[in-house]
Amino acid sequence: MSFTTLDYSVHDGIGFLTINRPDKLNALNATVFAELADAVGHIESDEAVRAVILTGAGSKAFAAGADIGELASQSPMEGKARALTGQRVMRRLERCGKPVLAAINGFALGGGCELAMACHLRVASETAKFGQPEVKLGLGPGYGGTVRLPRLVGRGRALELLLTGAMIDAQEAYRIGLVNRVVPADRVLPETEELARAIMEQGPLAVRLVLEAVETGLDLTVDDALLLEANLFGLLSSTADMREGTAAFLAKRKPRFEGR
Ligand code: COA
Repeated sequence: MSFTTLDYSVHDGIGFLTINRPDKLNALNATVFAELADAVGHIESDEAVRAVILTGAGSKAFAAGADIGELASQSPMEGKARALTGQRVMRRLERCGKPVLAAINGFALGGGCELAMACHLRVASETAKFGQPEVKLGLGPGYGGTVRLPRLVGRGRALELLLTGAMIDAQEAYRIGLVNRVVPADRVLPETEELARAIMEQGPLAVRLVLEAVETGLDLTVDDALLLEANLFGLLSSTADMREGTAAFLAKRKPRFEGR
């Protein structure tokens, strides 16, 4: 697949997706979103892809937000359409059924932080910086920042970031639960890949349904989410992988999952 603002390739079951506008700190313009939508379509349908790693080109930024040049003259309806377009792409990524890991190599600001939050797991470089600086531009977040940030780090911490527009470093992001790991800059991709491979060793159907239970369950009442979990638990009991996983445990050997 060839894109103008993205690099995408599949190696050994992992889809590597890189936002590639390093001279603009990988700012998310309309082309990036259109190409991301295409790439997510491929990720959804390509059975060879078992996990996805999303990162930014260069050493400076994961993504420094929406492209401010595009925002500057937008009308209210254009602003709404832009927000909905970005939200749809991020939602689709979040719901693609495969684990998506963000390898955050530098600035993750505004839309970049929102994109990272739409991923399931986040590994940050020690040099990464996070923030939702939209208020500094007289705007608010448009790609889910007011929705996902409070769910990830809690209402008070989210509001502090959203209302001050302040930037925090990777250690602080780790402390508040915005990222899963902080590693030296040159370890971001290898450690993200290691985490992806640790997931890929598990039963593929189990991974898919656990993602579904969490991503859907978070939007439900506790009772409905528990029922969904019980149904998916039951459904997994119909799989050869579940028979293999339990048999392997009892026989004290490693399981050989086949995703069926
Ligand atoms: N949209 C469009 N262009 C952006 C951008 C964005 N969100 N973020 C950075 N860029 C561009 C800069 O305009 C500059 O382009 P130029 O070389 O053609 O002038 C280039 O990327 C490098 O950025 P620069 O500001 O020179 O780097 P810096 O190291 O001095 O500062 C940041 C880095 C991230 C602090 C700064 O770029 C910044 O504040 N960016 C905007 C962040 C933001 O508000 N995001 C939310 C948008 S809703």
